[in-house]
Amino acid sequence: MKKLLDGYVENIHFDEAWLPHAAFHPFYGSYHAMGKKRKRPKEAMVYSTQSIHKLLAGISQASHVLVQDSQTVKLDKHLFNEAYLMHTSTSPQYSIIASCDVAAAMMEPPGGTALVEESILEALDFRRAMRKVDDEYGQDWWFKVWGPDQIVEEGIGRADKWILKGEAAKAKAGVNWHGFGKMATDFNMLDPIKATIVTPGLDLSGKFAKQGIPASIVTKFLAEHGVVVEKTGLYSFFIMFTIGITKGRWNSMLTALQQFKDDYAKNQPMWRVLPEFVQKYPRYEKMGLADLCQHVHALYAKYDIARLTTEMYLSDLTPAMKPSDAYAHIALRKTERVEIDHLQGRITVGLVTPYPPGIPLLIPGEVFNKKIVDYLKFAREFNALCPGFETDIHGLVEEEGEDGKTRYYADCVRN
Ligand SMILES: Cc1ncc(COP(=O)(O)O)c(C=O)c1O
Repeated sequence: MKKLLDGYVENIHFDEAWLPHAAFHPFYGSYHAMGKKRKRPKEAMVYSTQSIHKLLAGISQASHVLVQDSQTVKLDKHLFNEAYLMHTSTSPQYSIIASCDVAAAMMEPPGGTALVEESILEALDFRRAMRKVDDEYGQDWWFKVWGPDQIVEEGIGRADKWILKGEAAKAKAGVNWHGFGKMATDFNMLDPIKATIVTPGLDLSGKFAKQGIPASIVTKFLAEHGVVVEKTGLYSFFIMFTIGITKGRWNSMLTALQQFKDDYAKNQPMWRVLPEFVQKYPRYEKMGLADLCQHVHALYAKYDIARLTTEMYLSDLTPAMKPSDAYAHIALRKTERVEIDHLQGRITVGLVTPYPPGIPLLIPGEVFNKKIVDYLKFAREFNALCPGFETDIHGLVEEEGEDGKTRYYADCVRN
């Protein structure tokens, strides 16, 4: 990609928040921003922002920016630092800086390479163990881990199996594991240490099955068994094999998943299976685990939520002003808090980000269209019907009225 863009743009910025480990193991080849023996672009400067706290040993906020000079352009360090200081506190947090040093020292070869190798190996062992359990259950259902159909029987194997192929290459190789439609071959690679665990109920094409197990119920179950999940989607959740994850740790999650399957089959009462959750939401107390799964699944299917959330991202978005101009309305106090029924046609001053999937739907300066307003109305209705399973929408302001009803607003440019 660097080669393709070089000469067309002055700067190439890689968001490597989740990939700071890639440079320390040959497995990742050139599927990351910059590496020791790789050629610099002729003209374009390369920037990579990495969150050291996500994958390496940094403490929170230990993010950094890597800069690679091109063959002809050098970074103006003074100006870069001036720009950087605009966005940071004037009081350095030395423990964060020290943790960056520790993380860097840990990654020095050969120890660093071994640590990354170990985490890839643990991730592959986990994937193999999940397949083994699947085989043991035979025709019965089991959680799937998203990834290539075939993985090596032992060791970490080679990266080529993890590269996402486009349509033509997919057909030629007879592989179809990733589920993405049209895409260029060889631009994306799935990092094996990121495991997306898929629950039954929704297939890759967005079709709902008769029965289903929403991922949020599984992750609540795991939380009550001491496993805190990184991210939860509708029918999938995400765990990471960062440095230091051992067999003992992933094995206890596997055991908890088997326990879930068992409790689901017996439709065990919620008060017994998820006591902490039920304490907060007593309305589910007398339901069985399978009943609750079906209750939430039926609501997701009724509203065709997977299609709805995909379509709203593909809807026509109209920018009415520059993001910086819209955002400036906040400092100028020229904003208005608008209830969702009146949002259509209004301009947002902030980001609007539903979670899942956690991707901004609107950026400052864009206009709320009908599709998006319909989605917000759906979220309001769903939240009222299914407390405890709310769609979290960053950017919406929640306020409880005098009638006890929750109302939702977004901050807009004042008319
Ligand atoms: C893709 C991506 N980029 C950037 C960030 C921000 O990372 P940081 O914690 O370093 O601010 C995140 C945070 O989750 C992310 O997922």
